[in-house]
Amino acid sequence: MGRIPEAIIEEVQNRSDIVEIISAYLPLKPAGKNYKALCPFHQEKTPSFMVSPERQIYNCFGCAEGGNVFSFLMKHEQLTFLEALKLLADKSGIRLPAEDTDRREEGKSLRLFKLNGLAADFFQSCLEKKEGEKALKYLRDRGLSGETVRKFRLGYALPSWDSLLQEAGRKGFPPNLLEEVGLVLRRRDKSGFYDRFRGRIIFPIFNVTGKIIGFGGRVLDDSSPKYMNSPETPLYHKSDNLYALNLAREHILKEGKVIIVEGYLDALTPYQEGVGNVVASLGTALSRGHLRCLRRYTREVVIVYDSDKAGVAATLRGLDLLVEEEFRVRVVSLPPGEDPDGFIREYGKEEFRRRVDKAPGLFDYKLDLLLSRYDPDSVEGKARVAREILPTIAKVRDAIEKRAYIKELATRLNLRGRITLGEEEILAELKKLRKGTKSSSSLPSREEGATLAERYLIQSLLQEEELVGEAKKLLATKDFHDRRYRRIAEALFKLEAAGKSTQAGEVISYLQDEELGATVARLAIDKNPYSSGAQALTECLKRIRKEEKKRSLKEFEEQIREAQVRGEEQSIRNLQLRYQALLNK
Ligand code: CTP
Ligand code: MN
Repeated sequence: MGRIPEAIIEEVQNRSDIVEIISAYLPLKPAGKNYKALCPFHQEKTPSFMVSPERQIYNCFGCAEGGNVFSFLMKHEQLTFLEALKLLADKSGIRLPAEDTDRREEGKSLRLFKLNGLAADFFQSCLEKKEGEKALKYLRDRGLSGETVRKFRLGYALPSWDSLLQEAGRKGFPPNLLEEVGLVLRRRDKSGFYDRFRGRIIFPIFNVTGKIIGFGGRVLDDSSPKYMNSPETPLYHKSDNLYALNLAREHILKEGKVIIVEGYLDALTPYQEGVGNVVASLGTALSRGHLRCLRRYTREVVIVYDSDKAGVAATLRGLDLLVEEEFRVRVVSLPPGEDPDGFIREYGKEEFRRRVDKAPGLFDYKLDLLLSRYDPDSVEGKARVAREILPTIAKVRDAIEKRAYIKELATRLNLRGRITLGEEEILAELKKLRKGTKSSSSLPSREEGATLAERYLIQSLLQEEELVGEAKKLLATKDFHDRRYRRIAEALFKLEAAGKSTQAGEVISYLQDEELGATVARLAIDKNPYSSGAQALTECLKRIRKEEKKRSLKEFEEQIREAQVRGEEQSIRNLQLRYQALLNK
């Protein structure tokens, strides 16, 4: 974060007590070494929000929010990091260096958010004007209540070339700023700018904290394009954001699952009817960025996409990503021509819920679809079904689950037709497939033991500062295979090397990453299964080494096998020697 010297940030953090700061907002009650309260970030009746004075962190066991004193202020008061820093610095009488470039940058994104807020206000106000009557009627006709319209801050862009441009100008926002957030476009002859959204219903797009990062606009008739959206901007990255997650997240936690739909209305209608755990991907393919948004809340996903879209197969292929990222995926099929919005209007929310609850898993859904599409009586049909479903099976990490799918695939393929395709053949095909894919992206399930050891080790380091130096002598960051744990280890080792505190609160500041920060807070406060740090260090290290060795041996075996196939005597001998050496170590 640059220009503000780290030493100052550290000093501010050292002089602020998290218990004192949070107490100003919530009543904290002592609970052992910690304090607890009702969580301010989700609705609950019994307190699961914990604050640790010892580690200077907070963590909620109910909603996975967590962090240090800065994160708390940023979340709770919707501040930027610098604003939180300033507030705490003022409190403890520390002077921050005056305005500098970093500050200007930070001020800039704040200004862009303000501009988006102003645009949303303007669009909202236009919906209430005479010119907006048509638009309001359109929304009513589509069944949206006044409350929903307000809650999602729907609006209307006037059918004019510059009404927003003018309005923003009056409030002191120059056109180039509007261009930066995608609200205006440059005229072709470069003589000026014009409003991007004209004569359209406006759907503001929020980030997870409820700030407006972009907009979507829909025409009121059948003209084309039906939707227009903000382009990628410094605030809006469409593959990193899910529409309505700001409102859905507490419902996702409550229901234990998220429903993913495609369109704006497909999120709004269920929400209005009381199905709150719905987010929309806004017509883009699900990406790792989307999954990163969800991971903190749930691993249970139900997909409800339009059934008549041309790209069902492509969509389904995209869902393998979720399997790979260890989400449990189920798929709802709607009657042809229906989308979630239309379906709820026609059949009601109870029927919608019923379908969601009964939705088959991705494997079963896909297998049924493929069996109905290709003729399983024929050899080619069998081969095609197998070929298309194998990538999904290959991504499954749980060995038992994987085995069960292979068995089922074999059974279903052999119900009819004269030629049978056995489990052995399927396994063989699967092996071929695995060679083609990067091994880093699909770790085998036996890794779980190792990852757990990494986790307990990091946890112990966060809970016993004295252990960090010791650990650093015994292992390197590359010994951590889990990306998250490796990054936390890096932070711990760097802080230690610089002679700084490795208290969880400090680590969170160092990492500058919301999700990792929450992980650190969680680990720091979680119960440690080991009786002492030293014991944790010895045992986790042993486990990590053992897994490392297993992995290397496997790799050698694989290489030896390949060398044998190619008949390369010399390298077979070499590899075998190295294999033996490792085995005896
Ligand atoms: N979409 C888009 N641009 C388009 C068409 C669609 O960005 N030209 C996105 C929108 O986010 C839209 C989603 O893809 O909500 C799904 O598209 P579609 O099913 O065609 O629209 P619906 O959401 O069903 O919209 P409506 O019910 O208003 O027709
Ligand atoms: Mn629709």
